[in-house]
Amino acid sequence: MTSTPQPTLVPFIPDNAPFSDDQRAWLNGFLAGVYSSAVPAIAPEAPPTLKIAVLYASQSGTAEGIARKLAKELKAKGHVASLLSLEGYTPAALAAERYAILIASTYGEGDAPDAVQPFYEQLCLEHFPRYENLSYAVLALGDSNYEHFCKFGVDLDNKLTALGATRIADRVDCDIDLDLPLATWKSTLFGKLNEIVAPRASRPASTPIATSLPIAARANTSAPLHNRENPFLAPLVDKRPLTLDVSSKLTLHMAFSIQDSAIHYEAGDACGVIPQNDPRLVEEILHKLNFSGSAPVQLLKVGATTLHDALLNHLQITRLTRKMIEAYATIGQCHTLFGLLIPEQQSHLDAYTSDRGLIDLLLDYPGVLHDPADLVAMLPKLTPRLYSISSSPVAHAGEIHTTVAVVRYRSHNRERGGVCSTLFADRTPTGQSLPIYIQPNKKFRLPKQSDAPIIMIGPGTGIAPFRSFLHERRALAATGRNWLFFGERSATTDFLYRDELESMVTDQHLTRLDLAFSRDQEHKVYVQDKMLEKASHFWKWLQEGASIYVCGDAARMAKDVDATLHRIVEQQGHLDPAAASEYVNSLKEQHRYHRDVY
Ligand SMILES: Cc1cc2nc3c(=O)[nH]c(=O)nc-3n(C[C@H](O)[C@H](O)[C@H](O)COP(=O)(O)OP(=O)(O)OC[C@H]3O[C@@H](n4cnc5c(N)ncnc54)[C@H](O)[C@@H]3O)c2cc1C
Ligand SMILES: NC(=O)c1ccc[n+]([C@@H]2O[C@H](COP(=O)([O-])OP(=O)(O)OC[C@H]3O[C@@H](n4cnc5c(N)ncnc54)[C@H](OP(=O)(O)O)[C@@H]3O)[C@@H](O)[C@H]2O)c1
Ligand SMILES: Cc1cc2nc3c(=O)[nH]c(=O)nc-3n(C[C@H](O)[C@H](O)[C@H](O)COP(=O)(O)O)c2cc1C
Repeated sequence: MTSTPQPTLVPFIPDNAPFSDDQRAWLNGFLAGVYSSAVPAIAPEAPPTLKIAVLYASQSGTAEGIARKLAKELKAKGHVASLLSLEGYTPAALAAERYAILIASTYGEGDAPDAVQPFYEQLCLEHFPRYENLSYAVLALGDSNYEHFCKFGVDLDNKLTALGATRIADRVDCDIDLDLPLATWKSTLFGKLNEIVAPRASRPASTPIATSLPIAARANTSAPLHNRENPFLAPLVDKRPLTLDVSSKLTLHMAFSIQDSAIHYEAGDACGVIPQNDPRLVEEILHKLNFSGSAPVQLLKVGATTLHDALLNHLQITRLTRKMIEAYATIGQCHTLFGLLIPEQQSHLDAYTSDRGLIDLLLDYPGVLHDPADLVAMLPKLTPRLYSISSSPVAHAGEIHTTVAVVRYRSHNRERGGVCSTLFADRTPTGQSLPIYIQPNKKFRLPKQSDAPIIMIGPGTGIAPFRSFLHERRALAATGRNWLFFGERSATTDFLYRDELESMVTDQHLTRLDLAFSRDQEHKVYVQDKMLEKASHFWKWLQEGASIYVCGDAARMAKDVDATLHRIVEQQGHLDPAAASEYVNSLKEQHRYHRDVY
């Protein structure tokens, strides 16, 4: 009598074992590797798997969310997928991988997210093609409103190819409306992975497929309760101006109740708000096109709805993009607009789109749209807006505060407003609710040691997370010294949270407060001027282990503050520019230089 050979059971780690997803994936991969090479009798029909590193470069969580979901999908397909952040990751670790999928967002001047810059700088120093064993795919995330669209993803992709790695699938560059390109990229990627796996299916199962060693890196696996797909309807319980009526700008303090929710956040996190367009602008657009608001339309993800709902709640109508102009020109066979789209005319196109919206296009080039479906198809999705939270979960239990600069400007004979900030200012009375969610910002946290000194640089609405930090530290009786650099236009009209800050100075919770009111004298004075004035103290605090935090305008302030920090380090540390850069990089590596800029 012949006995049927029994398949050897590989002791995989069960789902309820006390490990994170990544640890479990690693252990399962490890055990699969050990057993596949040690025991010959794995059932031949066992599905072949690949060991794939899913790596993300993310600042506000989109790339991380996509990577997390992708890792789950790969696991469901039988692969051994590990989820890793590129923060703290090394090129050597990447070179040890066999398969890697990279989801990369772009910031700054087409750069990697701040925390990922050390990884990319190291990768750029590599010149030898030691990535020949690596097969990879890149998904680039960006926003075509920025000059350097998806540039970090593009650079990363090109660099990996130059270093000898092989693409599994072509890179896709996703704009803010990323559902469709993401779905297309994923379907190509899964097809290519199937092609890789297919020939292996016929190999003896003892052939090790997962060849690379696991590399530990930071990855957070906790999923938020409410997110942009499932926001919480939070009642607005307080709204007050922080600037005086006579000020040249309006900045608001907003407080939402989260009493009836299971929302949790930490000091440093941001609050996402799902905005709504101005109903008057929606009416004007419908009227101009002679479309009925009740016309039925189909939206991706949303499904069937009315044109009015689509324009009010789901589509971007206040800004113009190249893609919108292309679609509009094609529908209308509009030669003037085609002329604007040729590469040599880019600066004219930029000038046309920079301060106009859909209504201007409809007025300037009328008679093009006759079908609501064409209008809906050419408009990008209305995206959530983020606001750094200015409350502390400990000091302001049950509430989330935000500090909002209201965007208003006039162009082409029209008063215009930012969608979300005017929703706050003009269309949301207290008592009304808005859909919100928490956007965790794990890179912007108070130091773990409560006695560590902190230096906060936050002009304008950049004050928001620092109000949170200060209240949090006070509520927790943290003994670390606190130094704030704050700047605004004028002391009399724009000194945000003046009373709170001054009383914190009085009771010495705020060890130092340096103020830069830019328009109170003939020449501009900015926070970085105050940093320079206090350079020797600044340097002393750094030597004493202070962490630096910068929040606010990314376009000018954050760059100038960074340059000033280098200058102070050069001057006070008697270092040449290269050594000063090394010093600043070492602050980043020690998680002592954090930026939350927009
Ligand atoms: C992580 C993060 C944290 C943030 N925290 C805060 C915060 O704490 N407080 C805060 O106020 N904001 C914050 N922001 C910015 C905020 O998310 C919004 O971008 C801001 O409120 C504008 O949104 P809006 O919908 O009102 O304006 P939008 O409808 O988005 O309009 C803004 C656009 O209008 C155009 N525009 C504005 N002014 C002019 C002008 N003078 N001329 C021509 N065009 C112009 C520009 O194209 C600009 O991009 C943060 C952003 C991020 C990413
Ligand atoms: N369109 C609008 O109406 C409007 C209004 C507010 C904010 N915003 C945008 O919203 C974002 C946040 O604005 P905010 O209210 O927080 O204030 P902000 O515009 O960043 O201004 C805050 C303070 O920073 C100063 N500042 C300007 N350039 C600087 C630089 N290079 N370095 C250091 N400080 C600098 C400003 O001075 P000066 O302004 O005197 O130069 C002001 O005193 C910014 O990106 C801003 O562009 C737009
Ligand atoms: C301050 C700031 C700067 C940005 N700069 C760029 C840029 O230069 N190029 C680009 O394509 N996208 C840029 N973006 C858009 C982001 O890359 C895009 O929103 C991305 O989806 C964010 O991914 P994340 O949430 O994973 O960080 C920028 C976004 C912000 C908030």
